[in-house]
Amino acid sequence: MFKFGFTVDSGNRENDAEDTKEETSVLSWFPAERIEVSSEQLSKTFDNDDFEITNMFCDITLKILHADKVVIDLQHDDCKNIIEAESRHSDLVPAKYEGGLKIWECTYDLGRYLLSEKIPLDHKEVLDLGCGAGVIGLLAVLKGSANVHFQDYNAEVIKSITIPNVILNIGDKKRVREQCAFFSGDWESFSELESQKYDIILTSETIYNPDNQQKLYNVFKSKLKKNGMVYVAGKVYYFGVGGGMRQFEELVSSEKKFFTETVWRSEEGSNLQYVVWMFDLTNFIGLEINEFPL
Ligand SMILES: C[S@@+](CC[C@H](N)C(=O)[O-])C[C@H]1O[C@@H](n2cnc3c(N)ncnc32)[C@H](O)[C@@H]1O
Repeated sequence: MFKFGFTVDSGNRENDAEDTKEETSVLSWFPAERIEVSSEQLSKTFDNDDFEITNMFCDITLKILHADKVVIDLQHDDCKNIIEAESRHSDLVPAKYEGGLKIWECTYDLGRYLLSEKIPLDHKEVLDLGCGAGVIGLLAVLKGSANVHFQDYNAEVIKSITIPNVILNIGDKKRVREQCAFFSGDWESFSELESQKYDIILTSETIYNPDNQQKLYNVFKSKLKKNGMVYVAGKVYYFGVGGGMRQFEELVSSEKKFFTETVWRSEEGSNLQYVVWMFDLTNFIGLEINEFPL
């Protein structure tokens, strides 16, 4: 069963109290910024044992950097957020490290859904929101020649795993520069950064924290083009953190601005996984708001 790695050492009550105090105090979120791809990154070469090859996505084969090696490099570089997450054996330290180094299950669901349903990605403006390793955005570049913006909370994730994965799979430096852009920081300030809007927003395993769901929804509201689509992949419930798909859908439908529909659901497991399709009704041309049961 899925559970975020919040670790509390039950034998050490002093540490428990410290952890709780920190997690419930007001968190300070990193501001959003654009991250440029350096010439050094573009010319980096990779050894075969730096990455694995995955055939999980129909006819697309991806090379994905080994996250454990990246973590070791980041620890050597004294990257404090990652060191803290590692020392707490945690996939998530709120507002410090939000889990982007590993690939989460729903990425596979969303990727396979997009490809098997032949969702039109051709030359679209796409946002991979909370991209982590960048798998979903990469599929959009490779399958649809889409222009993709990759966004992750942690700049160190973007620099050490997203950008290298993109370079590793796209190869052509000009294409990387022309078709891809990278952003770090909190969704709240990302909503206000640049005026770029997207045809398609893709987001996997980003609804786990109820405190961040409104910020996520606000990105949809501010960044989706007219007739644009959002695809959200996530689990029915995130143990240990409290978010979940139905809760997020309720938040979105409560404003009666977006239409939401489950388009795919896992058939096995006690913690179901969903892909939900959403669009902004007030922006959608050609359909009347009362055509949809909100
Ligand atoms: C659990 S990881 C999922 C990563 C990837 N989408 C996947 O499925 O493998 C959650 C992602 O959401 C991003 N994220 C979470 N909270 C965020 C916030 N408040 N602002 C910006 N990004 C956030 C994290 O950086 C991370 O990449």
